[in-house]
Amino acid sequence: MAIRKAVILCAGEGTRLRPLSFCRPKHLMQVAGRPLLGWILEALSEAGIEQIGVITPPDPDALREFVEDGKRWGMTATYLVQPEPLGLAHALDTAREFVGDEPLLMYLGDNALEWSLAQFIKRFEESQAQAAVLVKQVDDPRQYGVVEMTGGQVMRMVEKPPEPRSNLAIVGVYAFQPVIFDVIERIAPSARGEYEITDAIQRLLEDGGRVIAHELEGFWEDAGSPADLLRINGFYLRQLSLELRGVVDAASVVEGPIGLDVGTQVTNSRLSGPSLIGKDSVIANCTIGPDVTIGSNCHIINAQLRNCIVEDDTHIENLPAGLIESVIGRQVRMTGEECCSRPRRIVVGDMCCIEVT
Ligand code: DAU
Repeated sequence: MAIRKAVILCAGEGTRLRPLSFCRPKHLMQVAGRPLLGWILEALSEAGIEQIGVITPPDPDALREFVEDGKRWGMTATYLVQPEPLGLAHALDTAREFVGDEPLLMYLGDNALEWSLAQFIKRFEESQAQAAVLVKQVDDPRQYGVVEMTGGQVMRMVEKPPEPRSNLAIVGVYAFQPVIFDVIERIAPSARGEYEITDAIQRLLEDGGRVIAHELEGFWEDAGSPADLLRINGFYLRQLSLELRGVVDAASVVEGPIGLDVGTQVTNSRLSGPSLIGKDSVIANCTIGPDVTIGSNCHIINAQLRNCIVEDDTHIENLPAGLIESVIGRQVRMTGEECCSRPRRIVVGDMCCIEVT
């Protein structure tokens, strides 16, 4: 049976993204001009998914407001509240009724990756396996689920092992036959108190089930921290075909791919790509880029920004030494002084007012 349904995990607390994640779920952080979840929904739709089950925290409003009924992506959306973030297996179990007796794709809503989901799904469907995971070689696998393989066969899976026996990390995309729900019933919480999907898949293996792993060679990042968000922003900026639709005056210089939306004006500034500026923003006397995303209706005056995300309705003024590797939320007001002599690295939640001295 073909996979038509995907469960997207968007509960969880996002503690390493505070204060940003105090204001909204990390899945809705802006990267390259749209919420991270928007990129995921586009990929799922392209892969032929028809129905999505979105696992949400008890207050699902922000996620519902963005995804709505899913029609924008040609899919239908169902919202499934996970009362407490008790682990990925627990989150998936919340979707038991939604999934019914069908195979499914499970996607961690904080993961960005460069891969064809359609290919992953096709290989799973052809394999007759009970589960499939995507894996990637990483330098330090200790913060991930780790897969041990012999002769191309998955032998064992361990969640965040202190002494990993392989460098193959589990990427946040899985495919399952519905038997996974029977196995989830039989696992106990891990040492960190979570029902781990890795333990459920390990149990499948112990039951004699077949699990396959596909290696991802392209980009992969899970948005755990501001630095991760910035890497994801840089990756997606390079995927976009950027267009200059705003106005750049004759005193400004544009180098490399720049996206400038309608109603945006750039005066006496240097823009280096890839960078993206939303609509109705004003950029004056600035050096912007590379790897910068600025939202809509922002005012950036007399400042330098490099490798930064600035969300909608934000005002930044007088930071001539600039911001690097910074993530600035919505409706922030940030003012510096002409004499600010060193670049700052800063993470600011929504609606803050900051004076940089
Ligand atoms: O990113 C890949 C890694 O994701 C895998 O290598 C690990 O095996 C897997 O356990 C997972 O580890 P993390 O510790 O990074 O998972 P995290 O708590 O960040 O949650 C991942 C996503 O799932 C995130 O979008 C929040 C959501 N979630 C998380 C929990 C714990 C839920 O929806 N419910 C939950 O109970």
